[in-house]
Amino acid sequence: MFTSSQLLEKINTYLAGLTYSREPKGLYTPIEYVLSLGGKRIRPVLMLMAHNLYKEEVDTILSSAASIEMYHNYTLLHDDLMDRAELRRNRPTVHKIWGDNTAILSGDTMLVLAYRLMTCCEPLYLKAVLDVFSNTALEIGEGQQYDMEFESRRDVTEEEYIEMIRLKTSVLLAASLKIGAILADAPETDMQELYNFGIQIGLAFQLQDDYLDVYGDTSVFGKNLGGDILCNKKTYMLINALQRADAEQRKELEYWITCSEYIPSEKVNTVTALYDAIGIKELCNKKIEDYFQRGMSCLDRLQVPEGRKAVLRSFVEALMHRNM
Ligand code: IPE
Ligand code: IPE
Ligand code: MG
Ligand code: MG
Ligand code: MG
Repeated sequence: MFTSSQLLEKINTYLAGLTYSREPKGLYTPIEYVLSLGGKRIRPVLMLMAHNLYKEEVDTILSSAASIEMYHNYTLLHDDLMDRAELRRNRPTVHKIWGDNTAILSGDTMLVLAYRLMTCCEPLYLKAVLDVFSNTALEIGEGQQYDMEFESRRDVTEEEYIEMIRLKTSVLLAASLKIGAILADAPETDMQELYNFGIQIGLAFQLQDDYLDVYGDTSVFGKNLGGDILCNKKTYMLINALQRADAEQRKELEYWITCSEYIPSEKVNTVTALYDAIGIKELCNKKIEDYFQRGMSCLDRLQVPEGRKAVLRSFVEALMHRNM
């Protein structure tokens, strides 16, 4: 079996070896740019790990692993445009450097490139793999649409938020694991268990991303802090803050959510101080831990010797203590 760093090196080498010889350069340079900035590569690594549970060799599925990373990066180009984000992986976002239209078109191109890479898989599994991939891609679009619609709503429930992050984030982690298992001809019940594992871990992962958007360290996280607060994103933190606030705190929160002219740093600082006073930090950490544990228990049920699960367990354990 491979360690997570060996798998990471494999996927990084494969991605670095992809060449973009087509024209115009203006379309492909942003693609090379975003992929060269790295990122954690968790989705391809999860795919390779799932595969490696059943098969000693993983090189045969590197095109599928690269596809999932290409797809993920496509969502980031469009997401940064939608979220008006200026920094990603500690560098300016594509739309900041090349403009909105390039972010749209280079993103669209990455989606096509992702499909092209995915179809390089073993033909026997092509239909099953593409079914999972296409369904997942539809769900992510749905999740992203909810995410935006929620910005202008004030009655979003915790349940709606969880469903939204399941769609925009969890399903891609889940699909990565499932595709890795499909390509290894894993037992059907294991495929489903790995998928469920990905869903739970994905929920924890997005909750953590939202947490780091408030409480992280920009230079490590690689994104500007407070972006979610400025966009009025209906995060677990904001939903619970609104619910648990006393009358005065609620009035203040509602003021900032509805205020159209403000100094950004003042809004971020005040809302963060309200979260602190309401005890949101602890609440959010507990929720993350809950989903993490639920995910881990899915692994118990896999029909794989316990020792083989260790790589996956420790990778996810480390991910849950991330600050980037
Ligand atoms: C960012 O994903 C988008 C979310 C779903 C939170 P990652 O945190 O995996 O981003 P990179 O690829 O490591 O930069
Ligand atoms: C990302 O959610 C979900 C997708 C990209 C599909 P966020 O908007 O929270 O991700 P970041 O924080 O910009 O990476
Ligand atoms: Mg974003
Ligand atoms: Mg977003
Ligand atoms: Mg975020």
